[in-house]
Amino acid sequence: MAPKSSLTLFVFLILAITGKSLPHGDWRPIENPNNSYEVVRAAQFAVAEHNRVAQTQLVFKTVEEAVWQPIDGTHRFQFVISAMDGAAAAAAPPKNYTAIVWEIVEDLSLHLISFH
Ligand SMILES: *[C@@H]1O[C@H](CO)[C@@H](O)[C@H](O)[C@H]1NC(C)=O
Ligand SMILES: *[C@@H]1O[C@H](CO)[C@@H](O)[C@H](O)[C@H]1NC(C)=O
Repeated sequence: MAPKSSLTLFVFLILAITGKSLPHGDWRPIENPNNSYEVVRAAQFAVAEHNRVAQTQLVFKTVEEAVWQPIDGTHRFQFVISAMDGAAAAAAPPKNYTAIVWEIVEDLSLHLISFH
């Protein structure tokens, strides 16, 4: 756990230093995001990591929308993810969530920046 938290802290430090938090514009659309292993992996990570941090029980369904941008050795993804709430009634319809995930190109590690 410790190495992972320090890497997350490191990423936030970089953010603070460069002032490049969540830049707008220059996001590139990803066509057929469901068909990309890299995109689905990052989106599934977003749900799993959110479940871990927020103690929720969301179940990933599909990537509804995805955009990305390459910055400073990262691939930054912004997703609209459709997920079921495993804690809700079985008949509850899936909901959309917006998530931002960074993939560090060097080691392919994933970091959840925001999820709501
Ligand atoms: C991803 O797949 C799901 C169902 O398979 C579909 O509802 C959704 O529209 C797809 N997303 C895109 C952007 O193609
Ligand atoms: C989720 O987002 C997709 C794509 O933007 C949209 O077509 C769909 O209606 C949304 N679903 C819900 C439940 O809001």
